[in-house]
Amino acid sequence: DFDSHEYKVVLLGDSGVGKSCIVLRFVRNEFLENREPTIGASYLSKSLTVSEKEIKLQIWDTAGQERYQSLAPMYYRGSEIAIIVFDLTSYDSYFKAKEWVNELLEKGIPDLVIGFVGNKSDLEEKRVIKREEAKEYCSLHKLHYFETSAKTSENVNEMFLSLSKELTLI
Ligand code: GTP
Ligand code: MG
Repeated sequence: DFDSHEYKVVLLGDSGVGKSCIVLRFVRNEFLENREPTIGASYLSKSLTVSEKEIKLQIWDTAGQERYQSLAPMYYRGSEIAIIVFDLTSYDSYFKAKEWVNELLEKGIPDLVIGFVGNKSDLEEKRVIKREEAKEYCSLHKLHYFETSAKTSENVNEMFLSLSKELTLI
């Protein structure tokens, strides 16, 4: 069944945390400073090989601005992977990310693989969220924790690969 090799991925999180930059780094290996906020949502896809299987990720990059919040369920419903992103230098964005976790856990989407991602790891000197704290939160809620930098590309491919691998295990 060909369809079983296509998976829907949704990115959620506050505006400015770097969701679009993460997707662009992953799909096109590009990074642009000073990006415009996403309007509504944008779609990109990428094929990759996971556990010797060819899979295609259909990636929905949602807009983090408050006014688009009500659209989110359209994108996370039917997704196999949710990537909830916060900015390691912003406590507010971490709080917002936890709200997304609560919403997804409340909706009880079966078998959803949830990645909890602290982005902008290149700004280590400005970090306000401790790795240990985020990790502990994640183990409590069975989330997969990653720290990434769309700017340097650190851990971006690894994050998508690792979450995709989780799926092929289900
Ligand atoms: P919305 O579309 O409004 O939800 O925002 P977003 O989460 O898509 O943020 P976006 O990807 O547009 O990134 C916002 C800004 O953060 C970019 O203009 C980049 O300059 C910066 N940025 C993104 N990722 C990184 C990173 O890993 N490190 C650093 N230093 N800056 C980053
Ligand atoms: Mg965006």
